[in-house]
Amino acid sequence: MMTIPRDQWYVAAYSSEIGHELFSRTICGEPILFWRTRDEVVTAMPDRCVHRRFPLSQPPSRLVEDQVVCGYHGFTYDAGGRCVAVPGQARIPRTARLLPYAVVEQDSFVWVFIGDHAKADPSRIPRAPWLTSPDYTTVAGMEPLRARYSLLVDNLLDLSHETYLHGGHIGTPEVAATPITTEVDEDAGIVRVSRHIDDAECPPFYANSTGLQGRIARWQDIEYMPPCLYTLHSRIAPVGSVPAPDGADPDAFHVEVVYAITPETAHSTHDFWCVARDFALGDEGVSAFLAESNRTVVRQDVEALDVLEQVIAAEPAGYQELSINIDTGGLAARRMLQRLCGAS
Ligand code: FES
Ligand SMILES: [Fe+2]
Repeated sequence: MMTIPRDQWYVAAYSSEIGHELFSRTICGEPILFWRTRDEVVTAMPDRCVHRRFPLSQPPSRLVEDQVVCGYHGFTYDAGGRCVAVPGQARIPRTARLLPYAVVEQDSFVWVFIGDHAKADPSRIPRAPWLTSPDYTTVAGMEPLRARYSLLVDNLLDLSHETYLHGGHIGTPEVAATPITTEVDEDAGIVRVSRHIDDAECPPFYANSTGLQGRIARWQDIEYMPPCLYTLHSRIAPVGSVPAPDGADPDAFHVEVVYAITPETAHSTHDFWCVARDFALGDEGVSAFLAESNRTVVRQDVEALDVLEQVIAAEPAGYQELSINIDTGGLAARRMLQRLCGAS
């Protein structure tokens, strides 16, 4: 039974979500309070007063400059989680302290470390540089998923489902019909799944955003860095076009589809999604189209996975599912997640 890996970095929010007001989100079962200090630093601490557990994000709790005042009896904490005032006495108990979380803002995300603070090494946070690069334009969103995160990992590592679940949007018959190659880099902690389709129908998602007409070459190169970050390097080009030996690829359109897969609880997930493109930069019409199309596609996945969660909850213990070739990436990811669960 897989649980949630600890001692790991998870995306808690987009940087743009956290401002100078109290913000709460549950990550890996832990309710966390965030705010951006007057020095523009994101701070994170348990969203639970040490006194009688009142949520510090909930009114009438409030932020006064860089201190949060509990709305129940007034315990007051600074941005580092230290209690600086209690009601009715001058002495502040030594244990009146909220242990802050390690936080890093990177690539448009707020990353938080869940587990033993002493093990929080920011150099282990996987990168998604396209999301803040001037060479790309990005649209993004987040959908709540009422399903365990491992179902979303399965879903994203097997894109053959595009043909069926997303037919008419990003799916065409060639996706499911084309075999994949899977590669596991244990040292780097990356699962790679590739599918290169040399002659495919152009789905509306790409026809309407790139302007390409007719048949296309469609490459999908997935990199999953368990537990949280997933990238789909998507290459769309006229049939017959391949990158030059030096990597130049002027005829192609590149889309970096990034997901952050963050468990909210054992049975719910924050599904962060971003679509970064290297064409039609700044074209608001294309941005609006891609944002709406991707949101539609993500919701199709969410609806399916919400159903799966219910099916799993109702099934008898020991039910055996069946796996085939298309599942090799997902199975490799499960093994890696299992190891991370065991390691923490
Ligand atoms: S619960 Fe916060 S001050 Fe009492
Ligand atoms: Fe999907």
